[in-house]
Amino acid sequence: MNKEYIVSPSLLATDPMNMGRDIKMLENAGAKWFHVDCMDGSFVPNFSFGYSIVSAINKLSDVTLDVHLMIDKPIRYIDEYVKAGADYLTVHVEADTEENIALTLEKIKSHGIKCGLSIKPKTPVSKIEKFLDKVDLVLVMTVEPGFGGQSFMPDMMGKLKELSDKLAIVNPACHVEVDGGIDVNTAKICKENGANVFVAGSACLKADDKKAFIDAIENN
Ligand code: DX5
Ligand code: ZN
Repeated sequence: MNKEYIVSPSLLATDPMNMGRDIKMLENAGAKWFHVDCMDGSFVPNFSFGYSIVSAINKLSDVTLDVHLMIDKPIRYIDEYVKAGADYLTVHVEADTEENIALTLEKIKSHGIKCGLSIKPKTPVSKIEKFLDKVDLVLVMTVEPGFGGQSFMPDMMGKLKELSDKLAIVNPACHVEVDGGIDVNTAKICKENGANVFVAGSACLKADDKKAFIDAIENN
């Protein structure tokens, strides 16, 4: 199945005092999705966007909101992030028990939006395998979650390939997203290993020509 390639610029890399300006700039550059990182200072050692920011972004823009929850026991906050306007809501398989993750995914889907499941670098594929036919997006972290601007981990490519091969059989329409250290070069490597959605924070926001950056990944 030939999937569309999509760049999802990470709003974590925008200027916090000028986020609205940066959002418009990324829209004008042709961004189809925005990646919104939500961190709780517990699941990861950093804090970022709560649901009030997601709601403000949703009011400003019609771009698809790809919300990445890096929070413990995310089931507690699903209703709020849905209400705020998330289009894709992705939780971490490590963030709760297997039973509760299943309930969390069901809860997301019951709201009629897309659900995603993410896997940290040290987590084996076996942890996520049973959920592959139940999600709309699988997010393979290519850095330890928590901070932008880290180096891409090429040793995640085996896991990416294994997951995308399995998805091609059990859930071919599922998006395969990568996040962390993605630029034009690392996106190419991820594409070769089955990824079709590319989160890009630092590299995208630092690019002088953001349209050319997005085009280089989406149309090559
Ligand atoms: C990290 C976040 C990423 C981050 C990526 O925990 O999940 O989405 O913003 O930033 P870059 O592209 O700079 O690695
Ligand atoms: Zn992210």
